[in-house]
Amino acid sequence: MKRSLSVPGIAYGGDYNPEQWPEDVWAEDMRLMREAGVTMVSVGIFSWALMEPSEGVYDFSRMDRILGLLHDNGIAADLATPTAAPPAWFFTAHPEALPVDGDGRTLSYGSRQTFCPSSPAYRTAALRITRALAERYADHPAVVMWHVHNEYGCHNAACYCDTSAAAFRNWLKGKYGNDLDALNHAWGTTFWSQWYYDWDEILPPRATGAVPNPTHQLDWRRFCSDELLSLYTAERDVLREAAPATPATTNFMVMHNFDALDYWRWAPELDLVSNDHYLRSTDPESEIDLALSGDLVRSLAGGPWLLMEHSTGAVNWQPVNRAKNPGELRRNALAHVARGADGIAYFQWRAAKAGAEQWHSAMLPHTGTDSRIWRDVVRLGADLRALAEVRGSTGTAEVAIVWDWDARWALELPSQPSEEVRYADLVRSWYEPLWRAGVAVDFVRPDQDLSPYRLVLAPTLYLVDEAGAANLTGFAARGGTLAVGFHSGMVDENCHVRLGGYPGAFREALGVRTDELFPLLPGESAGLSGGGTAVLWSERLRLSGAEPIASYTTGPLTGVPAVTRHTHGEGTAWYLATCPDPDTLAALLDRIRTEAGVQPVRATPERVEAALRRGPDADYLFLINHGDEDAQVPVATGATELLTGRPAEGGTVTVARGDVAVVREPR
Ligand code: GAL
Repeated sequence: MKRSLSVPGIAYGGDYNPEQWPEDVWAEDMRLMREAGVTMVSVGIFSWALMEPSEGVYDFSRMDRILGLLHDNGIAADLATPTAAPPAWFFTAHPEALPVDGDGRTLSYGSRQTFCPSSPAYRTAALRITRALAERYADHPAVVMWHVHNEYGCHNAACYCDTSAAAFRNWLKGKYGNDLDALNHAWGTTFWSQWYYDWDEILPPRATGAVPNPTHQLDWRRFCSDELLSLYTAERDVLREAAPATPATTNFMVMHNFDALDYWRWAPELDLVSNDHYLRSTDPESEIDLALSGDLVRSLAGGPWLLMEHSTGAVNWQPVNRAKNPGELRRNALAHVARGADGIAYFQWRAAKAGAEQWHSAMLPHTGTDSRIWRDVVRLGADLRALAEVRGSTGTAEVAIVWDWDARWALELPSQPSEEVRYADLVRSWYEPLWRAGVAVDFVRPDQDLSPYRLVLAPTLYLVDEAGAANLTGFAARGGTLAVGFHSGMVDENCHVRLGGYPGAFREALGVRTDELFPLLPGESAGLSGGGTAVLWSERLRLSGAEPIASYTTGPLTGVPAVTRHTHGEGTAWYLATCPDPDTLAALLDRIRTEAGVQPVRATPERVEAALRRGPDADYLFLINHGDEDAQVPVATGATELLTGRPAEGGTVTVARGDVAVVREPR
């Protein structure tokens, strides 16, 4: 059954926590939400202690009043199950449900998400409140969506207690078909006397004296993601039983350093994919991270998605929390829409006076309505109304970047050739020049159908199974262009090295064979023919069919190829055996995509981001000017700029510095 969001146009709102305020504030909330054009808010996310004051005793009176008020004001509710924050009474009754870290330390309650994901007591309590909530509000006219839990795994991605150990063993028994020998072989436990004779001997990878077994750690990461997923599906099923037509979501955290969940496995379980995204103050071009996240979320969703949380200004959880620059709030929100968001929401509606997030920005700041943030929030509401017709339109990419959580986890295990190699940084370094050039990008799993694409990039794919590797090399063999980054294809799904030369799974398709790795030290670089420099990685590569494109000009590998190109079947396979400096990488990727016949969605001046959403009869061209100069961009005849409602005259639109234009181009 298809369950979609009944809120029209681009939904607009945020987390709404009225329980933190006296009720006389609520009327003002309603008035101001209407002024800002808010259409949907998420409620009840952290309300467990108030809704269930003691086990099995419910008080829904406050939630009744909140939902009634929202409905009277024409604002839809995304009603949350409050299970991310169990009350104190739960932990005093069930201290065994508190999580234990890898050093054996039991954490205390008093914050949020401090529970063991495998705890039977937690699961029972979470499903009990979920059922009570679902039964009470299944038919409430304000409730248009279920917001299951909040950011699964944000604070408790792994628990190392004995209950978790038993759950891990069960998961392993399922995975290895109850065959302990199969596990021993997969984990390579003849090494360091790690052979297991009994399932009960297997523990979570708790703190130990030396490096733990890599496959053990990798299976642990997979288990932890699946364990939380099973909590999501259990709550979702209870909600579905009570309200079969209401869509369910849970907010993902597809952003820079969060890597706990394999969202390829999660996304199919959601009716609507939603995401939270926050900028890092230390990133001078955080709009690139934002775009990457948006493209990845759209790819997970297979189409439009919802931005469940971002911030109007500063957050409270970085070492230094900065406000946004002028115009940045609007650029950020509309950039998410450009990447496929059909809803824009913030954490949170009203800035808190008390509690751990009192220094976090909100739609309605501490100062009140006489503030820059409020004026921007009201303006954004009008912008989103003007973009209502964009809803449902999709992306148009001919380039796919391979993204895989297994590969990320495996690459970042200890005891690698270099601990300087970071998965997200490598992907970002390849994504960045494409973003600057205005090239549309999707993200794909290694084993996904690649036929919609001309060019597939695998910046980093240390681990890949046979099916994934065959899919990627087969794409090239059938005429596609494949570009692979260093240290890819090295191990199989069990983290076992592929023998016979590096980069294992790809060496035939790439026409190269490496016999020794020479990662570079921090601060070290090697010259490249053609004038660039290489950092991070190098390898003694020999050609076996490929042509050299660039070679090292300094250091122990002088004369050895660093970048190669190979004809593989009907197509082309490139190998970047090092990490070139940003300009060299940009030039290379430019050449690779031009040869593959990939065009940008629009040629724009520097620092003007271009993204396209394709509707049934029109394209929507988003132009976001992050630079300091006004820009002119050519557009199709008959185009209209939607935010101003003005026709584009003379075949161009002007995007003032810091501003955004959204152009409807008829097809
Ligand atoms: C998110 C979380 C919100 C709020 C926000 C602050 O991770 O879901 O509840 O804590 O961060 O930035």
